[in-house]
Order: sequence, then C-alpha cells, then structure tokens
Amino acid sequence: MDYRVTSATVEQTREWGKQLGARLRGGDVVTLSGDLGAGKTAFAQGVGESLGVKGPMTSPTFTFQQEYSGRVLNSGIETQTETEIRLIHMDLYRLQRPEEVEVIGVEDAFVEEAVCLIEWPEIAEDFLPESRLDVQIIGSGEASREIIFHAREHNWEQRLKDLNI
Ligand SMILES: Nc1ncnc2c1ncn2[C@@H]1O[C@H](COP(=O)(O)OP(=O)(O)O)[C@@H](O)[C@H]1O
Ligand SMILES: [Mg+2]
Repeated sequence: MDYRVTSATVEQTREWGKQLGARLRGGDVVTLSGDLGAGKTAFAQGVGESLGVKGPMTSPTFTFQQEYSGRVLNSGIETQTETEIRLIHMDLYRLQRPEEVEVIGVEDAFVEEAVCLIEWPEIAEDFLPESRLDVQIIGSGEASREIIFHAREHNWEQRLKDLNI
C-alpha cells in the first residue's frame, strides 16, 4: 500500500519527516530514495527533530553513517513512557559494490535499540530487512515534491494511515 503526499517547500518535507518520526519505534528501518537534491536529508532532519536529536544532522556522504541519540514515545492506555534509541543515519551514495555494504557493517544497524534511516539504499538492497518502510521523494530544484510512503508490511499501514501535516 502506498501513501502519497505532496510537499511544496523544504519546511513541509521536514514536517513530513517529523510526522513519520512520531510514529517510529526501535528496530525500524526506513529507506529514503530520490535524486540528488530531492530532499532526503531534509526529511531525515525532520525525523531527527521528532526523536529529540540535538545538533545539526547533515548527510554522512563521506563517513557513510552517523549516529545520534534520540528517544521514541511508547503510548500505553494511560501512560506514556520514553525509550532511548540510537538514530543511525546512513548515506550509501559513495559505495560502488554490494560487498562494501558488508564491509562497513550496515547490518549492525538493524537492531531493536536503533532506528535506521538510509539514503541511497539501492546498493544495499540484498541486506535490507523485508519489514522496512520505503520512502521515495520525487522532484528536485524548487519544484514541489511528491513523497511516497511504501508500506512493505501491514504494521506500517496501521501507523501511516493518519499521516497528516
Ligand atoms: N519541497 C521541497 N522539499 C525538499 N527540499 C526542497 C523542496 N523545495 C526545495 N528544496 C531544496 O532542495 C534541497 C534538498 O536537499 P537535501 O535534503 O540535501 O537533498 P538530498 O538529501 O535528497 O540530496 C535543499 O536545498 C532544499 O532547500
Ligand atoms: Mg542527502
């Protein structure tokens, strides 16, 4: 099931990231695809903001991955608790061969205590968990963007159905 939204500005793209961030929990893996300048990093910054990440998030183009600390909210019937999580932001643009994905240890990020965001995920396709959420951003330059949330698993559909900004 795909959910399609539009974003007219970089602020709106960040806001959609924030909206998704509010629905994330430990163990989630989210891919971000789209052309250079589509807004993948802007979206990731919105996710970071909602997870309480402090400090600037930039694309880890040369280091492949950057880790931040954040927290997710767990809503119970009457209580809300917070869980500390690691936010791992990857940018695999500069990888050239799938074997390199193993060398840099991409799979180590797919753990319950981390949320993982992956820009340029294509080269890592064979290593990514089936249960991930794929986010595609279409458009670049000053044109508005279409953001497509591709739910690969039923539980994402439940979480995305009231997505709104
Ligand atoms: N609707 C929009 N959504 C996202 N970015 C936009 C939008 N309109 C213009 N931009 C600009 O496009 C660029 C997106 O950059 P960035 O998030 O780094 O892209 P990516 O990580 O996909 O390469 C920014 O300079 C931003 O200001
Ligand atoms: Mg980027």
